[in-house]
Amino acid sequence: MSTFQAPKGTYDLLPPNSATYLAVREAISAPLKNSGYGYVETPGFEAVELFARGVGESTDIVTKEMYAFETKGGDKLALRPEGTASVLRAALEANLHKAGNLPVKLWYSGSYYRYERPQKGRYRHFSQVGAEAIGAEDPALDAELIILADQAYRSLGLRNFRILLNSLGDKECRPVYRAALQEFLRGLDLDEETLRRAEINPLRVLDDKRADVQKQLTGAPSMPDYLCDACTAYHKEVRELLDAAGVVYEDDAKLVRGLDYYTRTTFEFVHDGLGSQSAVGGGGRYDGLSEMIGGPSLPSVGWALGVDRTVLALEAEGVDLELPATTSVFAVPLGEEARRVLFGKVTELRKAGIATDFSYGGKGLKGAMKNANRSGARFTLVAGERDLADGVVQLKDMESGEQGPVALDAVLETLKAKLG
Ligand code: HAM
Repeated sequence: MSTFQAPKGTYDLLPPNSATYLAVREAISAPLKNSGYGYVETPGFEAVELFARGVGESTDIVTKEMYAFETKGGDKLALRPEGTASVLRAALEANLHKAGNLPVKLWYSGSYYRYERPQKGRYRHFSQVGAEAIGAEDPALDAELIILADQAYRSLGLRNFRILLNSLGDKECRPVYRAALQEFLRGLDLDEETLRRAEINPLRVLDDKRADVQKQLTGAPSMPDYLCDACTAYHKEVRELLDAAGVVYEDDAKLVRGLDYYTRTTFEFVHDGLGSQSAVGGGGRYDGLSEMIGGPSLPSVGWALGVDRTVLALEAEGVDLELPATTSVFAVPLGEEARRVLFGKVTELRKAGIATDFSYGGKGLKGAMKNANRSGARFTLVAGERDLADGVVQLKDMESGEQGPVALDAVLETLKAKLG
């Protein structure tokens, strides 16, 4: 224990559990890499205004949860609370959209920061893997992204997740719906803050978790009834493409996301074993975001899946990922001379791509074998003075217990053959 602890709402990833996080990131990104998405990495902080304009001035993320600060040079910055605004900013800045190859398809993986009330599944520092397809209005792109996320979760062995799907309309039909909803909300018995929210962002009231509010919302105008013909046709095609791909989803007319940039297709991946923080991932179309941050019109769609919650979902379903052993060979020297010789062997094996570790600190045989066992290595190499005099090391198969001498210069070839 030191004087310090990880800050509130954060936690450390440590071995062996950290291997699961790496495997989850890998599993989520694999289908993206396989589908034309290129890797993008942006800074951990951006101008605060990017998020204020992009994510929305009235969202919880911007009003309550941003780690915003002013630098010594007077720049107003914020730790990134999400990835979409940054990725679009980076694509615009590099003129990727002008290279004549739309959509620009990008994926990313990183840390995000929100000053939230911490609880299981809700942290102040968390990880996402995300994907953005920028600059094309094509229902196949929306479907592609949902299919790839579904594929990623299935490849991890997850089964108890559901996909909620909705359309939030576009700049033609959404304002009409918004006005109708506002009109309805004004007639309800709501507290002052909720009434204020109804004026600024009425759709967010639909997401209110309180039972008394939900009760009053029965009979509220529903978005699907207000979609214009173009949005209805677009949504129909997204749904047909998902059906054709065999991806099961639920229509959820009340699905509202916590970020303001969405238009048309919106979706959330929820897991039923996670309690109140059930959204493992989410996304949708954001056709107006580019213009909101000063760019040209670039209709786009994307998602982000939460790595932390995906790991919790695996735990909830009792899925143990098959993680490759980190160490294949563990070398145990007995004495000074053996230490030098075996250390050379270890370097040789590592260069040949065999994951090898070494007993450090001059441990005796018993202590060293304990470490070898813990490392999960399949083979150990043990050498003492007598072995060296004979030009051999003792090779032990930790699974079968078989043991025998191998000539020093045949160690690499022997292990290569045994490890396949
Ligand atoms: P989001 O729904 O805010 O969307 O976050 C996506 C996922 O990140 C959530 O479903 C959840 O798994 C995880 N997440 C969010 N906040 C926390 C937290 N405090 N602790 C743990 N996990 C968390 C976005 O961020 C959008 N940028 C997604 C997107 C991409 N839309 C279009 N493109």
